[in-house]
Amino acid sequence: MVGKGEKSSRKQDSALLAWNGKSSNKAGIPISSLQLDSVYLHGNAVDPASLPPEKRPPCKLIKGDNIAVMNHLLSTGWKEKIDLIYIDPPFWSGEDYYTNGEEALAYKDRWEGGIDSYLAMIFPRLQLMRDLLAETGSIFVHVDWHAGHYIKLLLDEIFGRGNLRNEIVWYYGGPSPVKTSFPRKHDVIYYYAKGKDFTFSPQYAPIKQYLRDRARTDPNGRLWVDQNVGKITARKFNELASEGRVFKTKTGRYRRKQFLDEMSGDMIDDVWAIPIINSQANERLGYPTQKPEALLQRVIACATKEGDIIADFFCGSGTSLIVAESMGRPWIGVDSSDVAISIARDRLTRGIEASFTLETT
Ligand SMILES: C[S@@+](CC[C@H](N)C(=O)[O-])C[C@H]1O[C@@H](n2cnc3c(N)ncnc32)[C@H](O)[C@@H]1O
Repeated sequence: MVGKGEKSSRKQDSALLAWNGKSSNKAGIPISSLQLDSVYLHGNAVDPASLPPEKRPPCKLIKGDNIAVMNHLLSTGWKEKIDLIYIDPPFWSGEDYYTNGEEALAYKDRWEGGIDSYLAMIFPRLQLMRDLLAETGSIFVHVDWHAGHYIKLLLDEIFGRGNLRNEIVWYYGGPSPVKTSFPRKHDVIYYYAKGKDFTFSPQYAPIKQYLRDRARTDPNGRLWVDQNVGKITARKFNELASEGRVFKTKTGRYRRKQFLDEMSGDMIDDVWAIPIINSQANERLGYPTQKPEALLQRVIACATKEGDIIADFFCGSGTSLIVAESMGRPWIGVDSSDVAISIARDRLTRGIEASFTLETT
């Protein structure tokens, strides 16, 4: 332990992940400009040429390799402009992913060079994300048991170990045929803030059903449950009574009225039990590895304010984008797969008032 005013002689941590060919070449394939494909205003396609740049909507869906797109964004004024990055990259699963089972190849997650080539893909991209992130911003990196332990070390290196806010476990449960180990039923989401000054709003579960079931309704239609008055001063008691917040039971005891609209449920911790999208769910689009909107709602709600800019550089079917849109946050989505972009574009044009530009590299 180091006493007050003493200087620590401990050197800075130097434990880093190494692999063959590790380099921080962030250049990738350069692109000089993005081509404006279409503009969508409130669900309708508009001729891009008919709109001057200042009239184009702030949200963008971009088709291309994210390394090129991020470099382009950095060179066109987006450095440190993004408030929240959520990514759900390939997990190093060794599989190919098809829409609705076998219809069309959405993307590949096979790596001929093994883990080295996977890490060589993700490392420079995470560095570019740090450059795009505002000083007050945060990043959520969604992975699983395949490569999560490596990714966490990279994130420590890039964002600083002290900036890890949470290792979130997304528990989705469900049946499994596996009998040789415990069924694998969770993903991990590493949540890092870029610096000390970041946005975080605690999240609360809905009020428990048993409280709703036993609630009574007051003459104004407000739901309430009765509680002990507890140890309070006479002054406080009179104050509550004058507000109609205490009542006398048939046995002559005083009880307190607790209105449900003034209560919050339990605070959400770092294990998030949210079901995966079931085969009958309305939000299901047939995109493999599509994530539930409820998961993204929680990410966006805890780490942003209305108007903050959200980016997803592996956006797939656009889950984070549609949720950002519905929560009043401008967004940027990037994916290299034609299938993903087509599904995300349809989802966004169908959805809520979405206005965005579709760009390609
Ligand atoms: C796990 S999926 C994302 C799913 C998404 N979260 C959703 O809810 O639909 C990963 C996505 O990363 C995309 N991807 C992989 N490598 C990429 C790259 N270098 N640049 C852009 N997108 C990439 C794939 O095409 C795929 O759509």
